[in-house]
Amino acid sequence: MDHRSTENLYAVVAPGLEKVCAAELSALEITPQEVTVGGVAFAGRLRDIYRANLWLRTASRILVRFAEFRSRDFPDLYRRAHRLPWGRFIQPEASVSFRITCHSSRLNHTTRIAETLESALNQALGRSTNPVGDNPQLVMVRIVDDQVVISIDSSGELLHRRGYRQSVTVAPLRETLAAGVLMLLGWNGTTPLADPMCGSGSFLLEGALLARQQAPGLNRSFAFMNWPGYREGLWKLLCGEAQRGEVDVALVISGADENPKAVAAAKENCQRSGVAGQVVIDQLPVSEQLLHEGQGLLVCNPPYGKRLDLGENPELYYSELGKQLQRAYPDWRLAMLCSNPALVKATSLPFKQIASLDNGGLTVGLFTTDSQ
Ligand SMILES: C[S@@+](CC[C@H](N)C(=O)[O-])C[C@H]1O[C@@H](n2cnc3c(N)ncnc32)[C@H](O)[C@@H]1O
Repeated sequence: MDHRSTENLYAVVAPGLEKVCAAELSALEITPQEVTVGGVAFAGRLRDIYRANLWLRTASRILVRFAEFRSRDFPDLYRRAHRLPWGRFIQPEASVSFRITCHSSRLNHTTRIAETLESALNQALGRSTNPVGDNPQLVMVRIVDDQVVISIDSSGELLHRRGYRQSVTVAPLRETLAAGVLMLLGWNGTTPLADPMCGSGSFLLEGALLARQQAPGLNRSFAFMNWPGYREGLWKLLCGEAQRGEVDVALVISGADENPKAVAAAKENCQRSGVAGQVVIDQLPVSEQLLHEGQGLLVCNPPYGKRLDLGENPELYYSELGKQLQRAYPDWRLAMLCSNPALVKATSLPFKQIASLDNGGLTVGLFTTDSQ
């Protein structure tokens, strides 16, 4: 891809985090053009594609809107697709996979659509087959009311994979969701942060990276690195700038969990991402956690829903949890991610819901007491 051309871009975002992602783009001095359910449209050049992948904490992937046209039959789809400049994004030897969705359209046979696009692409690239290979270049195709939109994925592995978390426990949060929750709560890395039921440590880690102003994409690779004309020098320059902008963090980020495996996983993850010096993690149930004086933000994601068993009486569990949090963090602002408002109510804490989010297909509310 020519580094001077301006492309239509789209950050795919989990429901509920779109506005936070738009604010992240603005902070990068990239103007969000349209915020829709599931994403943010913006325009930019190659440099912006690299920066969006490097910096956005809440986006799942960054797409380049490659082509848009109306089509209602397969010969027409082939004709149009075959004329597209695929070679701007796809090397002749690259493996390509297609992800197709269709609604209310004459073209609705997803396998045949993929086959048609694949042979058009092969012909355009002057090759006879699409080679099988690891990490194929993803092409996303959406057909709605006969309007075909073809997008090229620039990210590769989803962006929540920051490259540091290998140890997980039950029901870990995606890093994109954990970062988004902190941003929705307006936490900017200057006040203490705690997660008393930290599991594998998503809030703690994302909090530490945010506080340090560390770019989340520094330690991984991206699909755009396999495009023709990949500008390694530009990428390294952007990474160098990001590293030089990191700040020292004096505040305490603390976590705990009653489960020793969770504590071990959280510690390993902190070690791997280089924030172990900033994060203190204890193996303790909430009922035994020390008194936290002063103020700060407590954020937690207690067990809920079908995935984690709360025993016979979940309300009683939440009611006890409410008392324990109040005792150990009396003057802190409290925030909780939970799928069941009745359980949040059972804590008897003055929680208000400020967002509705998606956690692995389950709708969860973000509840918080007033900020202090
Ligand atoms: C849903 S998981 C949290 C996942 C975490 N946010 C992550 O991203 O990995 C809930 C955690 O709460 C812990 N937990 C449950 N009851 C607890 C208690 N009373 N005290 C401390 N930890 C508790 C569990 O061990 C589990 O790790």
